[in-house]
Amino acid sequence: MKADSGPTPPATIGQALEIAQTHLSTLPDGTPRLEAEVLLAHILGTPRTHLIAWPDKRLSTRQQASFQALIRRRLQGEPLAYLTGQREFWSLPLMVTPATLIPRPETERLVERALELIPKDARREIVDLGTGSGAIAAAIATERPLSNIIATDVDSASLAVASANFLRLGLSNVTCRPGEWCTALPDQHHFDLILSNPPYVAEGDPHLQQDGLPWEPVAALTGGADGLRDICNIIRQAPAHLKPGGWLLLEHGFEQGSAVRNLLTLQGFQEARTLQDLAHRDRLSEGRMGAVGN
Ligand SMILES: C[S@@+](CC[C@H](N)C(=O)[O-])C[C@H]1O[C@@H](n2cnc3c(N)ncnc32)[C@H](O)[C@@H]1O
Repeated sequence: MKADSGPTPPATIGQALEIAQTHLSTLPDGTPRLEAEVLLAHILGTPRTHLIAWPDKRLSTRQQASFQALIRRRLQGEPLAYLTGQREFWSLPLMVTPATLIPRPETERLVERALELIPKDARREIVDLGTGSGAIAAAIATERPLSNIIATDVDSASLAVASANFLRLGLSNVTCRPGEWCTALPDQHHFDLILSNPPYVAEGDPHLQQDGLPWEPVAALTGGADGLRDICNIIRQAPAHLKPGGWLLLEHGFEQGSAVRNLLTLQGFQEARTLQDLAHRDRLSEGRMGAVGN
């Protein structure tokens, strides 16, 4: 799409989608029609069904220019979620900004496992370390309304987005606290479950240059030379903040399962094990504090 092609006469919804789809089909692994519809619906402030119902409706000059500007940004590789400012996680509509990691579907595995450990009718004390947009905390707070969740992040811009998401979703059982990993937690308070999707990609990993990752905050992605720096810190700090029998759950890369299990065991966690995702790849590891007397 040329940036200097000058004003074009307004197209209909159907024509604008056709042109955008053709341009977007040059992106690798894309879903050009869907993306074109999502972006146009975002510009028009309507549901996607409106586009299908009114293909002959003409766009205004301003709407057309805004749509073309978004298509250009998408063609440069900018993730769709940053263009619309939204991403769905656990069926919850979340605001995202370039300050926050875009929540990934694979992180729903961490939520599923956490929910297995929290009975529906129980009042548990839970922590989501490095909450980003608040995705994990929001999912658990929605599913377990009797439990209290603390959501932390070292990045104040991320925490502001998370806080706005909790407010918009009407979640009064989540509290935000700024700070580095467990140092953000209140003194002398012990939790039933601490979970985190920390940064775990190794610095210099070629994946950081692919799939829209260059647009995401590097501090949300990289965990030192081997990717394990933040996981190590959390495993070292968590025992002082867990109740006897409390759980630590960590998402990690699919080649980090045995390293994370070893770190948990070395730190004295019991029942250390790794769980897989739907593609049978190591996705998260967990460990449990011994009960008193163990
Ligand atoms: C991989 S992102 C996960 C975001 C969110 N939990 C999710 O799953 O979509 C890691 C998050 O950890 C935060 N973070 C990075 N270093 C941190 C630290 N030292 N202490 C606390 N949070 C940190 C980042 O700001 C980022 O929001």
